Amino acid sequence: MPSAVSARLPVFPWDRLEPYKATASAHPDGIVDLSVGTPVDPVPELVQRALAGAADSPGYPTVWGTPALRDAIVAWVTGRTGAVGLAHRGVLPVIGSKELVASVPAQLGLGPGDRVAYPEPAYPTYEVGARLARAEPVPYRGSPTELDPRGLRLLWLNSPANPTGRVLDVAELRAIVAWAREHGVLVLSDECYLELGWEAEPVSVLNPDVCGDSHEGLVAVHSLSKRSNLAGYRAAFLAGDPAVIGELLGVRKHSGMMLPAPVQAAMAVALGDREHVVEQRARYAARREALRTALTARGFTIAHSEASLYLWATRDEPCWDTVAELSKLGILVAPGDFYGAAGDRFVRVAFTATDERVAGAVARLA
Ligand SMILES: Cc1ncc(COP(=O)(O)O)c(C=O)c1O
Repeated sequence: MPSAVSARLPVFPWDRLEPYKATASAHPDGIVDLSVGTPVDPVPELVQRALAGAADSPGYPTVWGTPALRDAIVAWVTGRTGAVGLAHRGVLPVIGSKELVASVPAQLGLGPGDRVAYPEPAYPTYEVGARLARAEPVPYRGSPTELDPRGLRLLWLNSPANPTGRVLDVAELRAIVAWAREHGVLVLSDECYLELGWEAEPVSVLNPDVCGDSHEGLVAVHSLSKRSNLAGYRAAFLAGDPAVIGELLGVRKHSGMMLPAPVQAAMAVALGDREHVVEQRARYAARREALRTALTARGFTIAHSEASLYLWATRDEPCWDTVAELSKLGILVAPGDFYGAAGDRFVRVAFTATDERVAGAVARLA
């Protein structure tokens, strides 16, 4: 057995949640699982049809994707983020954004002595990517412009954020981009919740008000998992600095990191359609409002949460006490310390359950 890579990785203790899951599952009306953010609503019909229509795809797909897919990505990014001058050289499909987050530091050649910064609390895979590359993981609270730039090669942003739902505004993003460019730090901006703003309008790092008319040193990461209920398809993409995208394309070509051809066809159609996004947003908005009202009435304070698929809730007690109490009502939530010590008095409540399950949770909280 070669040296175990897994030993370098953080322990992500979903096992610790098991006893609470068992308690919640014992509720006579069954568990309401709000601990994970996995879509539960149907894949849009037109996307299913596009997938099926491309079922006869005997040849190898390419890592860069079909020209039709690249056209669809360029058109969507340009229309949705206001990015100027984006062309095929600035886009790259990836097999869901998680694999990219976990592998991009190594694929860019980072290693010992290099530092990778990411927010705290945060989606745990930023740290995983740093560790897989043997780079130094550097969690930051507050603004990344306070970081020591020495050795810092890669800076992760996540707006709207998981788990807090926080949105960085234009002024904050502009200041971060200016700082990163001044210090030669590559910015990777995870924008997979961009379409899910509720009380704030999320802005991309590629918006010219943030980055000017150049994408130098910037790559935005987007996913269709949440926007289009395509988590099961594995459909995401990068957009930004052609020099970085070109390097990643070169490396990923040699590793066979390609999307299946039917998924590429489905993704292009999904990007071209906005109606299903509006419909899905309406479902989430109703669930969010119902849960927010019920949690607030029960004494919770909701912090941030102006966007994304989560309510970041606290009763100013250790997160595991909150998890325990809610589990007795048959409701499972994620403890904030899963996302870093900064979350240890919060729980993350996902509103990705069905209307029926959300109504059940609301009744139990009353
Ligand atoms: C912040 C963030 N980034 C990336 C991902 C990965 O999404 P996917 O791999 O489905 O594109 C998630 C999933 O929950 C997430 O919350």
